[in-house]
Formats: sequence, structure tokens, C-alpha cells
Amino acid sequence: MMTPASKKTLWLRNIAAIFLTASILAFVLYFEPTSPVCPPTLSQEEYRQVMDPHEKPIVLLWFWPIGVKFDFKGCSSYFHIDSCVLTDDRSLYSKAQGVIFFHKDIDWRLKNLPQDPRPSFQKWIWFHVESPTNTIKITGLDHLFNLTLSYRRDADITVRNELTIRQTVKDDFVLPKKDKLVCWIVSNKAPSTGTAVREQYYRELSKHIKIHVFGKAYEGPLLSYDEYYSTIASCKFYLSFENSIHRDYITEKVNGPLVAGTVPVVLGPPRENYEQFLPGDAFIHINDFPDAKSLADFLLNMNDEAYARYFEWRKFFTATPHLLSTNNEFIHPVCLACDHISRDRNFHVVHDLYEWYFT
Ligand SMILES: *[C@@H]1O[C@H](CO)[C@@H](O)[C@H](O)[C@H]1NC(C)=O
Repeated sequence: MMTPASKKTLWLRNIAAIFLTASILAFVLYFEPTSPVCPPTLSQEEYRQVMDPHEKPIVLLWFWPIGVKFDFKGCSSYFHIDSCVLTDDRSLYSKAQGVIFFHKDIDWRLKNLPQDPRPSFQKWIWFHVESPTNTIKITGLDHLFNLTLSYRRDADITVRNELTIRQTVKDDFVLPKKDKLVCWIVSNKAPSTGTAVREQYYRELSKHIKIHVFGKAYEGPLLSYDEYYSTIASCKFYLSFENSIHRDYITEKVNGPLVAGTVPVVLGPPRENYEQFLPGDAFIHINDFPDAKSLADFLLNMNDEAYARYFEWRKFFTATPHLLSTNNEFIHPVCLACDHISRDRNFHVVHDLYEWYFT
């Protein structure tokens, strides 16, 4: 129950709030700084146009990640994101509310970043989806960006393929036909990418169980995008071995088999970290076994009933394909950045980019 007294204070508070908003508005509209400390790059009129809440904000993709173009329309068709105007037109720089910079494309002397002053409302987005092991440290990136776009859960904009919760509990999963026991698709084994751990584990495991290897790393057959999910589906188990081990670095290598209807055998951060993203009974972790031989024995001797239990989670969750629809792994993150910019009205500065990223 509200007493008359509390109603009165509520009234007073409302009036005060309206008054405050009105005065801030009047101030914003009519204030002309005489000697600004830092000259605004746009006139008041232009600024109001850019910040018009009825207009979609412009988000500028400064580099095409690794030089590959895609259609921005993918954001609305694949991800139902249509809240900003995405562009690669650098002449719109001074109007853009967000500018996305793909880390790998940044010149080590920062020569290819915008040279014009940054408008006060604009946010620079650091876009990077590789693990720290595979990251080249370019100096001068601290205090430069406003937002981070990464696989990390504590990034400002997190890129992940999360399992979505089903509206109704459904038992409609049909196990794909299996004609192989263990498979692995691997395209890279360059030592510089931190692949030594998985390389060694694979060698040891393959002594005890047959592994069908695809991809160029071990001269296995190459797969097209179209064959990716169907190949994984034809295996009972899939080696979801990350190329380096870091917190939250759990990639498409796990999502792929979940989508396809296969049990991922994971090598990466500890089981607890996986369980922050996936049901604990959706995967097998190599750390669950003292050595590769025990894992091989476990896989070889699993009966159908035990195997079926790895698919129980499908009644409650759905895994969404990520590569099949777009054929480009960069569209989704760019769309997420677009969506974020259209909602985020706050001021941010990423002070210690590497301090955050490498620890
Ligand atoms: C973005 O970061 C820069 C550099 O630290 C800072 O000067 C600017 O005020 C920030 N802008 C916004 C809108 O957060």
C-alpha cells in the first residue's frame, strides 16, 4: 500500500526528474562552447543528425577481415539484425558511430588506421577472434579502442555459437548414420600456432584407435564447405582439438559436431570452462582420462545405450550451424557489433587491451 505521503514524494521526484531532463536537453541544444578544450569535429547541426535516435547508426568496417568481402545483407537474412547501417565506405568515417578494426589487418606502425580526428560520439571496436597464442602484438593499441569484439565471455561484444534453449522439450533427434569411429578435420599444424599439445595427443591416440583425418595438415582428403557437416555426421566421435589452450577459447571445432549430431572429444581449457557453455554430458574431455590409451579403450568399448546418453541434451537445446549458412566466419561478429552499437549509449575506453587479452 502506498501512503499519501509517499505518493506526494513520488510526485515531487517525478517533477524533479522532468525538470532535470528538460534542462539537460536545453543545455545540449543551445550550449555553444566558446573555447572548447578539444574542438568538435562536427557542427551542432551535423552532430544532431548523426545522433538522431530515429536514424540507424552507421557502423563502418574499416578492413574486410583478411581481405574477403561479404554481403552486409547477411545480418538481416541470417541473424535478424538490422539495427544499423553497415558500410565499408570510408568517406562516411566522420558520421560513423562505430568503426570496426580487424586486428590482423592493422599495420604494425598503425599507419592504416584513420588519420582524421575521431568524432566524440564514435566508438572504435577491436575485432579479434584468434587465441592469444596466435596473436601478433602490435604496440600502441592501449587506450585506443572503446569496445572489444572477441570470443571471450568478458569482451564487450562476445562472439559465440551458444546453444539455444528449446521452447518445448522435444525428442525428435535422429542419429545420423555412422560409418567411422573417430574423425578429425585439421588444416594447420604449423608449430607457431601452438599446435604441439594436440599434435602429441593425436599421435599417442592414433596408436590405439583408428582416426580418419581430413584436411591439409596431414595430407588427408580436403573437404568443401558443403561436405563439412555431413562428414562429421558420419563419425561417432569427432576430435575437437583447439590449436592452443586458453580460457573461453572453445570454437567452431566443438559447435560443428554438436550441430552435425556427433560427440565431440575435446582438448582445450578445463572441463569446467566447457561446462559454462555446454551441458556436461554433451562432450568427452581428454582430461577425463589418465592417458590417450584409456580414452581409446573408452571409445572402443562404448555400447549404444551409453552413446545415446550423449544426445540427451538435444531435448532441451539446439545447436545452430554457423558456417553452413554464410560460408564466412566474419559476418556474424560484424552483425553483433552492429547490433551492439545501436543499443549502447555509454562511453567506454579499453585502457589495457593486452593486459586484458593475454591474462
Ligand atoms: C573512445 O576512446 C577514446 C580513446 O581512449 C576516447 O578518447 C573517447 O572519448 C572514447 N569515446 C567513446 C564514445 O567512448
